[in-house]
Amino acid sequence: MERETKIADGTAVDTSVDTGALRTALGRFATGVTVITARAPDGRNLGLTANSFSSLSLDPPLVLWSLRLASAQRQAFSNAAHFAVNVLTAEQRPLGDRFARPSASPDDDRFDGLDWRPGRGGAPVFNHVLASFECRTNRLIELGDHLLFIGEVEHFAFADGAPLIYGNGRYAVPAALAA
Ligand SMILES: Cc1cc2nc3c(=O)[nH]c(=O)nc-3n(C[C@H](O)[C@H](O)[C@H](O)COP(=O)(O)O)c2cc1C
Repeated sequence: MERETKIADGTAVDTSVDTGALRTALGRFATGVTVITARAPDGRNLGLTANSFSSLSLDPPLVLWSLRLASAQRQAFSNAAHFAVNVLTAEQRPLGDRFARPSASPDDDRFDGLDWRPGRGGAPVFNHVLASFECRTNRLIELGDHLLFIGEVEHFAFADGAPLIYGNGRYAVPAALAA
């Protein structure tokens, strides 16, 4: 498929990539796994499993993650002043699976029975996560098919343990990484 996209300065870039192959190639880059949460302005709890989380800056302390534009939670996440990043331990794969399920229903039951406390702005912070970052949304940037969230870390915590890893489209638990 031939396709050209013009970037800001008018330069034409060839974007005729095979999306499936690109996804496979990108999947070779292993990441940790997070559940990103927020409290919607109407009081609903929002959440999704995300591996697009990354550190951006130490001073000031900034982090980022991206949400696909098609997400049912896009509007609510965009309107929330804060979000929380919950970094999962190797034992928390079920939490990752639960929050990778579509959130379509307004009576979202994915938080039922889970152990969490409200962080900054009410964003749910789960107990026993490997690390948590409570952030004030600093900037939203719509790019391609995702919405980029940049947040300023207002509060963080961490524990000892092994991270849950995601790579090549699969979860993995590298024992050697146990802190
Ligand atoms: C390991 C893993 C990482 C993911 N990372 C992201 C991500 O960074 N951004 C995103 O929008 N969806 C990501 N997803 C998909 C969402 O978790 C999934 O689409 C979820 O249903 C989103 O909620 P929604 O139905 O409200 O859109 C990921 C899924 C998995 C299993």
